[in-house]
Formats: sequence, structure tokens, C-alpha cells
Amino acid sequence: MIDAKVFLAPLAGVSDTAFRILACEMGADLTFTEMVSAKGLFYKNENTSYLTYIDKREKNVALQIFGSDENIIKEVIQTNFNKRNDIYALDLNLGCPAPKIVKNHEGSYLMKEPKKVKKIVSTMVENSKVPVSVKIRLGFDEKNKNFLEVADFIVEAGAYMITLHARTKEMFYSGHADWNAIKTLKRHVPIKVVGNGDVASVEDYIKMVEQTGVDAVAIGRASLGNPFIFKQIKDYKETKTYRYPTIEEVIEIIKKHYQLEMQFKTEKIAIREMRKNILWYLKGFKESNKVKNIINSLVDMEEIFKILDEYKNNYKGGL
Ligand SMILES: Cc1cc2nc3c(=O)[nH]c(=O)nc-3n(C[C@H](O)[C@H](O)[C@H](O)COP(=O)(O)O)c2cc1C
Repeated sequence: MIDAKVFLAPLAGVSDTAFRILACEMGADLTFTEMVSAKGLFYKNENTSYLTYIDKREKNVALQIFGSDENIIKEVIQTNFNKRNDIYALDLNLGCPAPKIVKNHEGSYLMKEPKKVKKIVSTMVENSKVPVSVKIRLGFDEKNKNFLEVADFIVEAGAYMITLHARTKEMFYSGHADWNAIKTLKRHVPIKVVGNGDVASVEDYIKMVEQTGVDAVAIGRASLGNPFIFKQIKDYKETKTYRYPTIEEVIEIIKKHYQLEMQFKTEKIAIREMRKNILWYLKGFKESNKVKNIINSLVDMEEIFKILDEYKNNYKGGL
């Protein structure tokens, strides 16, 4: 019996409140917010604060922060996070490879400084009223795969869970995630381990769980335009079967996704978000390229829905 949980990985520009609600309704056991700058929160940047919004329809949301100044992180926890009751866990990002983040010695840069990691995580654990988790990579580069050493410090600091995206910083998103490293980490630490990297289907989820023994699997890119993957995994766990969504179901979710975006963002931004998402939702559907091109030239959601409905009504079936 496979009982490992399934999580929505943190995805900047994607795992916003609207998408997390969908993932949660589809069966994700826990979702992560987009990464949020601790400094941005400290300096009360409005755009940053709004990334931390959690809706009542959500459950088990881990709020992911990035930063390297433990004093700033402590202040943000005490004056902001601890006043809230909607955060399930606080997650620290040690994986982001983006140059502007690494340049500031944040995100994946911190994999180079295990002792600093211990200091930051200890500060988080000592001050946060909710459990603390950390998301790491294998190491900074091929020559420095120090995830076990970093994990030891994270455990000593008192975190309750580690997610391993099994690539180095240098790999960004290329090559293959090293699932053996995930297995090694699971055997090495006494806390919960979440496996992450290259799980694109129910079969991959099963394989990762069987191969590594992880407590949970976090799904990133395979969820883009595809929150159904959480339902497929949930269905598989309950019934040993699952199915793919029909075009009708996909269009229905697109509309729901838009309605949710509208509840949290301006119409202009919601439409921009949805254009990007619709391209992902229609990926693999027959002749969807034509629709995608039309949609890209439209600015009115009613018109976009009309084109989608026409596509749906003329759809001849099959992927
Ligand atoms: C568009 C995008 C945004 C991401 N944003 C974040 C982020 O904010 N925080 C983080 O820890 N990882 C982020 N990641 C990394 C993912 O959480 C995940 O570790 C990675 O995509 C590997 O998992 P996958 O193969 O299931 O996609 C992002 C990845 C993508 C593709």
C-alpha cells in the first residue's frame, strides 16, 4: 500500500492562492506558496506581502521564504507570521538558482554555508509558532554535493521536514533528478523527507515512493496546467485506477481558475496569468496550437472563453 503524501511544490509565478485552492481541492495534501522575500516583508513591500495571502478554502499551506539574515527573518516571524492562524508550516528556500538571488547569498547559495543554514533554521524554529521545514538541493555544484551535511545541520536546528530537489544548483532544471540521493537522505535523517524532481505522472509518483521510501512527493512542473495530477494520484491510492480529464473538464477548470484569479488579482493581471496557464492546460490536446495563437491575441476573458467553448464543442476526442 502506498501511503506517501503528495504536495504541490513551491512555484514562483504559479503556486498563487488561486492555483493552490485548485490543487488542494484536487487532493494535494499540502501546498507551498511561491517563494517570498523575508527582506521584502521586513520592509513592508506591498507586492511581497500579498504573496503570503492564504484563503479560507485552503488547508495545509506552507509559506516559503527566502533570505539569509536571521535577524530579519526573526522579526518577520514575530511581527507577522506568528499573528496569523492560517500558516501550516514555514519553509526556507535553499534551492533557488536564479542569479539575482544567488548574488545576494540567498536561495541555493546557502548550500555553500551549512553553518549559516543552521543559524537561520535555529532562529526560525526558536521563534516560529508553526513547524519549520527546509527545501534544499543536492549541493551547489557537482563537486560539492553536501546535502547530507546540510541536512544534519537542519535536523540539529529542529526542522520537522526536508524537501530535496535532487539536482545541484548548477544543473538548474536540466539533466535528471538523482532519486538515489533522495533514498540516501531518507535513510540518513530522522525527520520527514519529501522527494522532488521529475515526477510527471502517477507512475513516476509510485516509482519514486517505492525507490526512495519518502514520506511525501512534491510535484512542480507536472502540475502546470494540470492540477488533475493530484486527483489522479489520490484516485490511484484509493482505487488503484485513475483517468485523464476530458476536454470538458479541462475547460471547466480553466474557467474556475480564472474566477479564482479574479478574486485575488486585478482583471488585467488575472487575464495575463490565465493566458499563460491556458497554454499549459491545453498542452497535448489535438490542434490546440491554433486556439493558443488566437487566445494570445485576445484581451477579453469572455472572448477567450468563447474560443475555448468552440474548441471544446468541435473537439473530436483523444489527446
Ligand atoms: C516556474 C517555476 C517556479 C519555481 N519556483 C520555486 C520557488 O518559488 N521555490 C522553490 O523552492 N522552488 C521553486 N521551483 C522549483 C520547484 O519547486 C521544484 O523543485 C522543481 O521544479 C523540480 O520539481 P519538478 O521536476 O516536479 O518540477 C520552481 C520551479 C519552476 C519550474
